[in-house]
Amino acid sequence: MKGLILSGGFGTRLRPLTFTGAKQLIPVANKPIIFYGIEALAGAGIKELGIVVGNTAEEVRQAVGDGSRWNISIQYLRQEAPLGLAHAIKISKGFLGNDSFVMYLGDNILRDGINDFVKNFDAHHPQSLILLTEVTNPQEFGVAVVDACGMVRKLIEKPKEPPSNLALVGVYIFDQHIHTAIDNIKPSWRNELEITDAIQWLLDNNYKVESHMVKGWWKDTGKPDDIIEANLLVLEGISSAQNGHVEDSTLNGRVRTGNGSAIIKSVVRGPVVIGENTRIVHSYIGPFSSIGDNAVIENSEIECSVIMEGATLRNVEKRIDRSIIGKNAVINVIDQSPRTHKFILGDQSYIEIAK
Ligand code: DAU
Repeated sequence: MKGLILSGGFGTRLRPLTFTGAKQLIPVANKPIIFYGIEALAGAGIKELGIVVGNTAEEVRQAVGDGSRWNISIQYLRQEAPLGLAHAIKISKGFLGNDSFVMYLGDNILRDGINDFVKNFDAHHPQSLILLTEVTNPQEFGVAVVDACGMVRKLIEKPKEPPSNLALVGVYIFDQHIHTAIDNIKPSWRNELEITDAIQWLLDNNYKVESHMVKGWWKDTGKPDDIIEANLLVLEGISSAQNGHVEDSTLNGRVRTGNGSAIIKSVVRGPVVIGENTRIVHSYIGPFSSIGDNAVIENSEIECSVIMEGATLRNVEKRIDRSIIGKNAVINVIDQSPRTHKFILGDQSYIEIAK
């Protein structure tokens, strides 16, 4: 079985972070989101992986490499434009051949990986196996109607009036019949070749489509709040590891610190991860925070946030909460008169200031 990870698309719902980088490379617990997918596929025994890339191809390739660090081989497959999940399969036909494959959306994280799911497919060999989970906002996902025996009856992409609360998780397994299905569907109203339409074609033509319920948590990191939530969920499962220097500080709970980092006169309450060569001085880092490499946090308070590499926060005494601070961003509170705010913000930046 092969693997196909989708890492194209524009990531419009994550602007401004995606103006300068691929959404699949945004760090969650200091690890690019796409690495969770690669590890899930490698963990299920998949050795040959294709990654569909778009206009962020070069930076994805640079961050991920040739797969040797996971002991797998990786090929990059260029999709000229994000014309749909089924279109991504279509342009990957040369790589996939007639093999069965797992398609994994590069912005998804599943706590328990996909081993059970792959075993299930191998045992029954349906034409497609899809993953489902109950959600409170089904209109934001592909939605499935499943009969009493667990057989899938109908799939609809982001319905205004969802017929069930069962969302499609972004992991699918297919055999070669999916290529025939894709050849028989037309672009949707949003001009995308929808994978839900291709799976519906399999159903309408009496092919077997099975479903599997996700047991552990699952997160589609499409929007900023999803990144904060995914970071929280991943940090819940970390263990402590101290590689940095700690001086006159209190560390509570599970805290990971990277090589060359220094925590001085500070309080850190885990779960927290701190990257390499990062300095935390006279600050409070509260639960569910990830601080990337080469960051500087001085006289500041942070909680439940993702601070990326190279960011600097100085004298931010009012606590920063549920925030995402991009690479090399600077927040500097200075003592001056008149007491003004000065902002240099990228397009679609978002700032919320409590009075
Ligand atoms: O996350 C689960 C949901 O993923 C499912 O419930 C939906 O049925 C499915 O359509 C999908 O919805 P999204 O709106 O979240 O898909 P998105 O456009 O965010 O694309 C998912 C990933 O695939 C993302 O990493 C970008 C990549 N992609 C997307 C398209 C449309 C490509 O590589 N090429 C594409 O053409």
